[in-house]
Amino acid sequence: MAATKARRPLQCLLNSKALWGARRSFGAIPERSIPSSASSSSSSSSSSPSQQIISLEYEYSAHNYHPIPIVFSQAKGSSVWDPEGNKYLDFLAAYSAVNQGHCHPKIVKALQEQSEKLTLSSRAFYNDKFPVLAAQLRSIFGYDMVLPMNTGAEGVETALKLARKWGYEKKKIPKDEAIIVSCCSCFHGRTLAMISMSCDNEATRGFGPLLPGHLKVDFGDIAALEDIFKEKGNQIAGFLFEPIQGEAGVIIPPDGYLKAVRDLCSKHNILMIADEVQSGLARSGKMLACDWEEVRPDVVILGKALGGGVIPVSAVLADKHVMLCIRPGEHGSTFGGNPLASAVAVASLDVIKDEQLVERSAQMGEELRKQLAELQRQFPDYIKEVRGRGLFNAVELYGAALSPVSAYDICLKLKERGVLAKPTHNTIIRLTPPLSMSADELREGAKALHDVFEIDLPRMLRTKPENSTPNSPHVCDRCGRKMYGA
Ligand SMILES: Cc1ncc(COP(=O)(O)O)c(C=O)c1O
Repeated sequence: MAATKARRPLQCLLNSKALWGARRSFGAIPERSIPSSASSSSSSSSSSPSQQIISLEYEYSAHNYHPIPIVFSQAKGSSVWDPEGNKYLDFLAAYSAVNQGHCHPKIVKALQEQSEKLTLSSRAFYNDKFPVLAAQLRSIFGYDMVLPMNTGAEGVETALKLARKWGYEKKKIPKDEAIIVSCCSCFHGRTLAMISMSCDNEATRGFGPLLPGHLKVDFGDIAALEDIFKEKGNQIAGFLFEPIQGEAGVIIPPDGYLKAVRDLCSKHNILMIADEVQSGLARSGKMLACDWEEVRPDVVILGKALGGGVIPVSAVLADKHVMLCIRPGEHGSTFGGNPLASAVAVASLDVIKDEQLVERSAQMGEELRKQLAELQRQFPDYIKEVRGRGLFNAVELYGAALSPVSAYDICLKLKERGVLAKPTHNTIIRLTPPLSMSADELREGAKALHDVFEIDLPRMLRTKPENSTPNSPHVCDRCGRKMYGA
């Protein structure tokens, strides 16, 4: 995308006189170097509005993220504007929470209308919206019941509690001996239970002790899963997995894996628990990523796009013989199933259906991968692999060839060219735009990536410091193996 074209000002953002004069500043404020304006509580008046906001956050917010330095001020569909009025194309979609596109009018309308009527009852009482959502989830996904929560991590946590409860009540696992098996490189969120399954040292170091009752197995390795089921099957309540691993870098399991998991779980009386928080709701070109092999897990967790990018909504789906193992008082959340979130979720699901986002994602994904494959053909020394399903895609780079330039540095350059993407690990760029993105916008994104490789990267490599540290692979604290970026 031509940089000038990417920066068309949004008129309504420019009503303020201050913004007219604001100059775009691409200066990253990396966490490692505190900007001078961030070291005092008042921002320098000479810096741009974006710079001031970044400084404010740096000063007053925990440094638990390392953002690409762009400030979202307004967004519509696939486009985002910063406070200076520069326009960008969003190729992250808030980690797939904005599948329907930013500020979708039908979803925003549902939010507005419901917010004027009733926002919260707590489930100490009934409200007239949650049951409507529950029935809609039943009719779309075919599970008897839903347990509503808010964030994805809470949804997964709920599914694990449900599995343990089912394990003790129905499978008769001895007290406190239930095991959950999960996959190497998984990502299920940031709570203590979630990081107790993580292979990401940054997520776990300094947060111990991790919770007991977890065993790991390589994602995609059905023989290893069978071994662990044979050895410990009597104690295993559930096998938790992402049908496509998102944070690990959009890792797709070998063909037949999901079916084989289904068979093994049935054989050993173990709950098959699919975390579809990121892969679900049309992201992969199917309603659920498990639909790629037409398997029906025992438990499904939804989140992110269930709230249409507007409000956190998550849901655990299961049949009665599992779900009714949890009884009144045993689990809950003040905001889970609140009427505002429920109205938004109903509208979010309607938009997925009405706008045929499943089909769109499948079709647009193919288009995008064709363009990315062409890019790989042009830059075979840098691009190791292009992979994905639907609009759930990743470009994996050769870490050593690029070193010390990282996927993060590439994303900074993409941002300068008006495209927003986020790296995962040192060498992978995830491309997960809103499913409503047009073919032209997808082409603009691929063109920007092309220009970064052709124009920016040679310059970056020429100017790399002599003593820079190479991109080193991540060695897992749990098992000592080289993982991401190897
Ligand atoms: C597969 C998966 N599960 C769970 C989560 C956690 O969701 P949340 O950040 O809403 O807690 C994520 C977040 O990225 C995810 O990708």
